[in-house]
Amino acid sequence: MCGIVCYIGKRDATPILLEGLRRLEYRGYDSAGIAVTGGEQPYLVKTVGKVSELERRVAEVKPAGTCGIAHTRWATHGRPSEANAHPHTGCHGKIYLVHNGIIENYQEIKDDLIQKGHRFHSETDTEVLVHLIEENFRDDLESALKKALSRVQGTFGIALFHTDDPTKIVLARRGSPLILGIGRNEYLAASDVNALIRYTNKVITLNDNELAVLSAGDYSISDFQDRKVERQTETIEWPAQSADKKGFEHFMLKEIFEQPEAVQNALRGRIVDGEGVSRLGGLDSVTERLKSIKKLIFVSCGTSFHACLLGRYTFEKLTDLSVEVDLASEFRYRNLMLDEKTAIIALSQSGETADTLAAVREAKRKGALCLGLVNVVGSTIAKETDAGVYNHAGPEIGVASTKVFLSQCVILNLIALLIGRYQRLSLTEGLLITRALKELPALIDKILKNAPRVEEIAREYARYENFLFLGRLYNYPIALEGALKLKEISYVHAEGYAAGEMKHGPISLIDPDFPTIALAPRDSTYDKMINNIQEIKARDGKVIAVATQGDEGIAHHVDRVIYVPQTIDILQPLLNTVPLQLFAYYVARARSCAIDKPRNLAKSVTVE
Ligand code: F6R
Repeated sequence: MCGIVCYIGKRDATPILLEGLRRLEYRGYDSAGIAVTGGEQPYLVKTVGKVSELERRVAEVKPAGTCGIAHTRWATHGRPSEANAHPHTGCHGKIYLVHNGIIENYQEIKDDLIQKGHRFHSETDTEVLVHLIEENFRDDLESALKKALSRVQGTFGIALFHTDDPTKIVLARRGSPLILGIGRNEYLAASDVNALIRYTNKVITLNDNELAVLSAGDYSISDFQDRKVERQTETIEWPAQSADKKGFEHFMLKEIFEQPEAVQNALRGRIVDGEGVSRLGGLDSVTERLKSIKKLIFVSCGTSFHACLLGRYTFEKLTDLSVEVDLASEFRYRNLMLDEKTAIIALSQSGETADTLAAVREAKRKGALCLGLVNVVGSTIAKETDAGVYNHAGPEIGVASTKVFLSQCVILNLIALLIGRYQRLSLTEGLLITRALKELPALIDKILKNAPRVEEIAREYARYENFLFLGRLYNYPIALEGALKLKEISYVHAEGYAAGEMKHGPISLIDPDFPTIALAPRDSTYDKMINNIQEIKARDGKVIAVATQGDEGIAHHVDRVIYVPQTIDILQPLLNTVPLQLFAYYVARARSCAIDKPRNLAKSVTVE
């Protein structure tokens, strides 16, 4: 989704801003732009398409200046075009502004400004902001911004400068992230910490309804009522190079291969040896309240939602809680009875997903305990939940979530263990699970060594346009996840189904051109899965099975087998996920798709 980068200091702003934009490319965008001042004269360049095209155009201008703002846009109001790309400027061409978020009452403000003589050049909601600020400007940018924002409904992360005063950039936030990067005699700001870590690891996150002023030698933060805000800097632990590909062709592949480490990081220091229980520092403050909880609701979107679906089975097996799962976009509009005996767990890699954040706010309003399971430290969901656990999976750059999904599934096991051991879960069962959790990184490593076999099968099947993914019980959410991975990066139609549902509809799709990927581990559902496979074969459907290492017999029923080592039933789906991620990756590669930045998708979905 849209990205913002700003720089003010003594250096030439342009290369720093362009590098920042490159580091935001993974979020998904369709146009980009940059405005710089503080040199001989201000310049503004906007392009449709890639940041590399913007760089080419900027090089023609030979710009200089020490103060600048830049943006990648993901179209919401108005198609991708140069006119709609940010930065936007007003009628006098003195104020330049970039904006993430949505201005809901933009039409009413626009009509009013047109009456007052303003001329608009884009179809965006953002352009009204810069005209409104211009309308309110006397001699002070902060006052004009605050006055303008008092009329605005919606969400925003905004950065702007005035060419008459190239010594400052002003920022404001409501509902759309902005992080300040604190350097030596220079300051940066961005909507995503990845744009900053090359230059500084000292950051400050702006809160909603706060405004910041950056200059080359100083910065200040205040609220919209002019009250000064003092905030400590935080240190980001991610090394700058963790946002590089480390020799892999794509971030997605690198992240798939980082999964043993991501799982290790999710577990590190979180298992109490010999007691079959976990230790989660982030939940310490709510331990007593957790003991009184009767109902748990998972909320999230996309891949994180699939982790929640698996979490439901895990919690039902290990705890006495009644468990519900809901898509955040549905949950927030339901008429739910939530009280102090209910907890919600919001899962989000980015910690910024608009629907998940809205669900958290709704649950808080109704008195539920709100927990977060988030990867991005300091993100809005991490801040707004009552307590929570971090994934510590490192930055996930590929748009398709992989390593964070496995990390989420591992941590849900840890949370279930923590609660379950207060309830019915025995020491013996607890020990069995903690032992199996610790073995996961080595088992995932083994699966990754088999990647060439998955690649071979993926190349063979890359020409098909439709796939069915089937799984039962713990593997049903993995069938959904496998289908999502394939469709989002290879643009192949794929449906995930609970295998038991096959006869209730999807079986009519089966023919020689509609292959099925069947998750058929040697667990309690094995015989039923074999029945489903036979039903598909009886209709000339092709079947690729993901099966347990050593199950030679299954090869007689299917066309291809991908073997996976065995673990306990509740953790088997985590292992089964890995070949499906690899399959999606290699199909997309064979079809020459833009794997890390699939069309129309954004890494962090900050609009409803
Ligand atoms: C799919 C994918 C998305 C995200 C979804 C939620 O591979 O990555 O479906 O899972 O947009 O994002 P987060 O977890 O950041 O809330």
